Amino acid sequence: MKQGKVDALLGIVFGDEGKGKVVDVFTPKYDVVARFAGGPNAGHTIIFDGKKFVLRSIPSGIFDEGKLNIIGNGCVIAPDLFMAEARELQEAGYDLRSRLHISKRAHLILPTHRVLDRAYEAAKGKNKVGTTGKGIGPTYSEKASRTGLRVGDILENFPQKYAALKARHEQILHDLHYTDYDITDEEQRWMEGVEFMRQFPLTDTEVEINRLLSEGKSVLAEGAQGTMLDIDHGTYPFVSSSSTTTGGVCTGLGVGPNKIDQVYGIFKAYSTRVGAGPFPVELFDETGDRLREIGHEYGAVTGRNRRCGWVDLVALRYAIMINGVTQLIMMKSDVLDGFDTIRACVAYERNGEILSDVPFDTEGCTAVYRDLPGWQEDLSAMTSEEQFPQTFKDYIAFLEQELQTPITIVSVGPDRAQTIMLGSVN
Ligand code: IMP
Repeated sequence: MKQGKVDALLGIVFGDEGKGKVVDVFTPKYDVVARFAGGPNAGHTIIFDGKKFVLRSIPSGIFDEGKLNIIGNGCVIAPDLFMAEARELQEAGYDLRSRLHISKRAHLILPTHRVLDRAYEAAKGKNKVGTTGKGIGPTYSEKASRTGLRVGDILENFPQKYAALKARHEQILHDLHYTDYDITDEEQRWMEGVEFMRQFPLTDTEVEINRLLSEGKSVLAEGAQGTMLDIDHGTYPFVSSSSTTTGGVCTGLGVGPNKIDQVYGIFKAYSTRVGAGPFPVELFDETGDRLREIGHEYGAVTGRNRRCGWVDLVALRYAIMINGVTQLIMMKSDVLDGFDTIRACVAYERNGEILSDVPFDTEGCTAVYRDLPGWQEDLSAMTSEEQFPQTFKDYIAFLEQELQTPITIVSVGPDRAQTIMLGSVN
């Protein structure tokens, strides 16, 4: 039997590229949709038939009845938030139990991990990362220091294991003089969430995925965050704590690299970043405000203003290299409608030096731009490539040339229907 393949769908800049929407559009082509990294720091927005859902931990393939959705071993999961998210979907009529499996090896985010997240941020003073406060960093740190709790731990002696880890956290918080917190209600909901999780198949998802692949089934690995937030390749220390890149697909699902076929890199027609850290293309002027306003660039999880700027080809080239991106998907192209001139960052400059690769530290880098003519037409009303204005076609051609990678899909609005396949799709 022909082996099935894993395609990866990855945010390749600072996250918030619109992965949820694309996974939702892609799902019919796959048998399995799997999350391999991150946790409830993600907010994947999906809009269809006038309904809107924001998914945090649950894969975006959940709306499609015949598909298996997997929360892989590379993920971290907060039982209380998972329960709230799952209940919302169940109330909307989706039967999750038959379509969602959770890896026993995924790590649990405890209420005290969230307190630690706040405590560590507070201790950083001016150098805060600007985390989502969901306990992501402390949970992954604990995974690396081999003291964490995993989903499979809820099946045996859980109260004792939980109490021991919580006591350890309390000791750390005490040592940090961070004692002004109360998790009583939160902990109760969290424990309820643990009970709630028991109704789902908690499995060895790595074995399951590989068995399905050997049966010829296809898997879509749904990324979270983006390459520039990757723990190894992002703008460290202003990053998240997981492997958000193609390498993370292998470790976060337990699949070999030879199983990976297409790597779809998603980016927006402009740039955004949430939280702290260097952002060479950031605009502090009316144009930045206009991108934020038109693009509704406010965090899906935290509601924070996203920092905005023009597209960053230096970061994109780097991300394409790190991930082995085979096809690009450009989101939110319609947000650029009506600009007389559109700019693209083609290099960074620092202290008079021109940098065409992402350096060790992008602090102090500013953008070197290429100006391109804009378009006045309303892209969101267009349904095929033929309707695109020439200037937009030229913008796509320019990006493809600079990035040496085909753009095969362009999104022109939030609805599923506003997704246009370009002629070069292979
Ligand atoms: P953490 O993942 O909560 O630890 O946050 C670390 C950094 O990643 C912060 O700058 C966050 O704003 C950013 N971040 C985390 N998740 C997302 C996301 O889903 N989209 C965009 N930025 C994110």
